[in-house]
Amino acid sequence: MVVRLVADGVLTAEWEPVFEGLPRAGFLPDAVWQHHVATGEVEAVDRGRDPQRWREAAGSIHPLVTQWDDGEHEGPGRGRVASSSASAPSVVAAMLRDLTVRSGQRVLEIGTGTGWNAALLASRLGAGNVTTVEVDTSVAEAARGALQRQGMGAVTVVRGDGFQGYPPRAPYDRIIATCGVHTFPRAWREQCRPGGVIVVPWGTRFTSTEATVVLTVAADGRSASGTFKDLVQFMSLRAQRREVPEYADYVTAESRDKAERGATTLTWDETIAGEWDISRFVLGLLVPDCTVILDEPQEGQRPVWLCSLAGDRSWACVLFREDRPESTVYQHGDRRLWDEVEAAYGWWQGQGRPGLGRLGLTVDDDGQHVWVEK
Ligand SMILES: C[S@@+](CC[C@H](N)C(=O)[O-])C[C@H]1O[C@@H](n2cnc3c(N)ncnc32)[C@H](O)[C@@H]1O
Repeated sequence: MVVRLVADGVLTAEWEPVFEGLPRAGFLPDAVWQHHVATGEVEAVDRGRDPQRWREAAGSIHPLVTQWDDGEHEGPGRGRVASSSASAPSVVAAMLRDLTVRSGQRVLEIGTGTGWNAALLASRLGAGNVTTVEVDTSVAEAARGALQRQGMGAVTVVRGDGFQGYPPRAPYDRIIATCGVHTFPRAWREQCRPGGVIVVPWGTRFTSTEATVVLTVAADGRSASGTFKDLVQFMSLRAQRREVPEYADYVTAESRDKAERGATTLTWDETIAGEWDISRFVLGLLVPDCTVILDEPQEGQRPVWLCSLAGDRSWACVLFREDRPESTVYQHGDRRLWDEVEAAYGWWQGQGRPGLGRLGLTVDDDGQHVWVEK
């Protein structure tokens, strides 16, 4: 795993010996589900039944789900919502690189999970300098046990809601969240010292892909700002899970009859595209309170639904076709959601299609603002 991470350029020289010394296997439960990100498939791996396969999974580059449905799911099948995991090692390495820790710094982690990331930090900075918050009682307990077994019992593992940070040990020099947010918690900025760095997977409710953002807290502590780095997919902070609306709540028989019919020359590839395409992430930044739902392709058409999350139940449906210059669009409600997407796409084009390194986020007392670097 380490060789691969070095070859991929995500594991820096400072972190390489730390990863070498702390294999992920030391933090995993006996039952894990290997998540093949490219296909979306998950494979149950049980240490008791197949120890060799379990060791391979532990040493692999794949994220491993360690809990489903907040602990309510039992058995080897997959649950509904993956609620805790050991993240993909490449993502762990990239986020630690971006955190730019220095010896003696104090770090707060949100989302303890298996405890592996906290242990990596503890190995660099000393266990007494690491605080980690986990919302789930049994996950926090397991991480505490694993950290103790690795001789890192001095890491402060807090069972609590990471949205609040952890004021008793503030201020921190660095804060790292290993769960995704769409609403940045003010407490994190307030608990990070001026000049400190916060690394967090931040996204919108448009799509389930986030981008890591590296924020530096301003000298007066009243804002934090920085650019986006990499597209990622994290499990969300529990209270900020992406809700997928009920189709029937939006597309009633009446609204279907009244929907306005139009056409678009924009294509699937240019706009909604794949989960890992920048265009979908960018449209999420520009079209607020809206979510995308993809339907099964049928009869040469690829239906995409847009639903407003602003409480107005506006919807749009685009029937993308690759064999014709135009695709049909239906829109209904106070908002014309596809028109909003087209306007956003046009604006982004006009700016020269800025990518993550030119797009940034500022969080302050007024909320969160996305910007483009000129
Ligand atoms: C991707 S896992 C973290 C991986 C972990 N850092 C590791 O090294 O294994 C995300 C974790 O965030 C936790 N989480 C979700 N919402 C939270 C919240 N409000 N406060 C603290 N932890 C939360 C989940 O229970 C889950 O364990």
